[in-house]
Amino acid sequence: MKKVTAFIGTESKKATYRAINEFEKNLKQYEDIDFEYVFLSDYHLEFCRGCKVCFDKGEEHCPLKDDRDVLIKKIEESDGVIFATPSYAYQVSARMKNFFDRIAFIFHRPRFFHKTFTAVLTQGVPVGDNIRKYIEETGGHLGFSVTKGCSLWTLDPMSDKQKQAMESKVSKAAHRFYKGLIRTAPSKPSFFRLMLFRTGRSGLKSASVRYYDYFYFKDKGWFESDYYYKTKLGPVKKLAGRFFDFLGCVIGKKI
Ligand SMILES: Cc1cc2nc3c(=O)[nH]c(=O)nc-3n(C[C@H](O)[C@H](O)[C@H](O)COP(=O)(O)O)c2cc1C
Repeated sequence: MKKVTAFIGTESKKATYRAINEFEKNLKQYEDIDFEYVFLSDYHLEFCRGCKVCFDKGEEHCPLKDDRDVLIKKIEESDGVIFATPSYAYQVSARMKNFFDRIAFIFHRPRFFHKTFTAVLTQGVPVGDNIRKYIEETGGHLGFSVTKGCSLWTLDPMSDKQKQAMESKVSKAAHRFYKGLIRTAPSKPSFFRLMLFRTGRSGLKSASVRYYDYFYFKDKGWFESDYYYKTKLGPVKKLAGRFFDFLGCVIGKKI
């Protein structure tokens, strides 16, 4: 049975929670799913102090003692992950942002490949999709295979029309997520992701300073591979990949 975990950035069991209930209901129409709700408010997360020791020496050297690794383990044990949050001051909630900060070292050394990810955003004023896109970008940086989520207009009390619109958006997002969940072939990297990987790894390789990431990449065989994981690149992406490597070398030599 597939395991899906929703990380929720508010402690109120209102709009965001209801949206995740709806998501779960939709998902379970396709097949039985082990669905877990993780309220970040139930976990102890310190604020990052900016020492960068996780970047430079490895995350195990982080001086903060909190539930970061408990939450990471929950991701590792999942086939699919949802980050759900209300918009606060036109951004994700502080709880959700703090979670991103605590796991930001994974941006340097992505790891959640072949796990499906999506974003659910609730907001009082339907001003746009930027926050949803930001959450999805974050998922991509962590290594997930991202499907388009939804941003929902959830100002209380919701009219019937708003409720219908919410249900329809969640149903479509759940369908996209499910298709990702049952996908067997690894997803192909976009040009953007390929660029990040190839410039990053070539930069690390040609830099005169040896960062912790260098040894991590070396260990994984990422200096020789086409991408983080086995995937078939078409001729255009192959060519682009070589160019991104060249670009990374030029940048790396300046470090
Ligand atoms: C402190 C705070 C700040 C908020 N800021 C925004 C905002 O900038 N833009 C917006 O559209 N909604 C904003 N809202 C409204 C919430 O995003 C919206 O009501 C959401 O559905 C709340 O989710 P919840 O019921 O799960 O807590 C804010 C709400 C709170 C409590």
